[in-house]
Amino acid sequence: MTGTPAGGRAQPVGYQYVVVRCVPRADREEFVNVGVVLYCQARDVLACAFSVDPARLTALAPDLDQDAVTASLAAFDNVCRGAGVAGLAAEAPLGQRFGYLAAPRSTVVQPGPIHGGVTDDPHSELSRLLVRLVPGHTHREPGHRDARTSSGSRPMDAGTWDRRYQDVELVWGLEPNQFVRAQCQSLPVGVAVDLACGEGRNALWLATLGWQVLGLDFSVAAIERARALTAAQPEGVQRRLTWRVDDVTATTLHPSSVDLALLSYVHLLPDERHALVTAAARMVRPSGHLLLVGHDRRNLHEGVSGPQDESLLYEPLEVARQIVAVPGMSIDLARTVERHTDAGTALDTLVRARRLTD
Ligand SMILES: C[S@@+](CC[C@H](N)C(=O)[O-])C[C@H]1O[C@@H](n2cnc3c(N)ncnc32)[C@H](O)[C@@H]1O
Repeated sequence: MTGTPAGGRAQPVGYQYVVVRCVPRADREEFVNVGVVLYCQARDVLACAFSVDPARLTALAPDLDQDAVTASLAAFDNVCRGAGVAGLAAEAPLGQRFGYLAAPRSTVVQPGPIHGGVTDDPHSELSRLLVRLVPGHTHREPGHRDARTSSGSRPMDAGTWDRRYQDVELVWGLEPNQFVRAQCQSLPVGVAVDLACGEGRNALWLATLGWQVLGLDFSVAAIERARALTAAQPEGVQRRLTWRVDDVTATTLHPSSVDLALLSYVHLLPDERHALVTAAARMVRPSGHLLLVGHDRRNLHEGVSGPQDESLLYEPLEVARQIVAVPGMSIDLARTVERHTDAGTALDTLVRARRLTD
């Protein structure tokens, strides 16, 4: 996977954005950038992303009402999502909603001037702007659940993934990932879980091999797409697939419940990543496998595409260490592998592990 939608690169289009600032005391003309709102008329995108560092705000204004900041950012988020606010209909056109958000206001959270640019991927551009313009921002992949986002909640980030999936017919294509195919094609079939399955390309392929697969993803649009793809499969394959909208960092992952736990390009912050890898390893039954593939840390400087934030990336030995900390788990392979894409060579982490029989 390259981060490039199947079907090639989209044409560059113009967009507008405003930086969202927290202005604790307008009289002192001091502010901290806390987010970005991006509007792209050509792609029908109105999206926002926030990253608030409470410590920085407290340093600037010790008596700042942080709840008021959170509430203001949630209002920005609501307008982007079409949830509607007083004086602005939920179904107002995106341009009108952007105009509303970009209008000067005298509250603790204010938009800066409108700027413009050109991009072939408005959602990725939003992440890049956040990284470039908001101090202390540590997470650059759209879709990630960040406790410091406007609402502090996971739906906002699942929503960003929803918009991404809604923008493009098949974001990651129909074929399974090449490493998933190579590593799983000769495994004895059984029960599999595909954690953060996206549109389900890997789960669908496993089901055609005879696996009984549960695909979980927190994006409603992704799961809807997976269900639609399933409906086009022969009945036997359909029966083997179950899809569920769920947050893999919050749901119960039952120990010793699957013969294959699959993690394919799930990029989380370190603590959540560690917890998920550990939980996935625990899910594996004796003789079963865990397969993990994701963008490698080396990709940042030596490869193409993928998240540009080191903290979200994988490192084979780190993953292997986390897996073997789970009793009974043993590593089959853990290495950095090359994936050739239209944009160049990407580097992925590939780890396969198994649970030894008792
Ligand atoms: C890069 S895509 C990979 C999709 C799929 N695994 C594949 O390889 O085609 C990452 C997916 O992770 C999902 N995701 C991210 N964080 C998640 C979470 N906490 N719970 C469930 N899904 C999550 C996103 O919605 C997105 O579909």
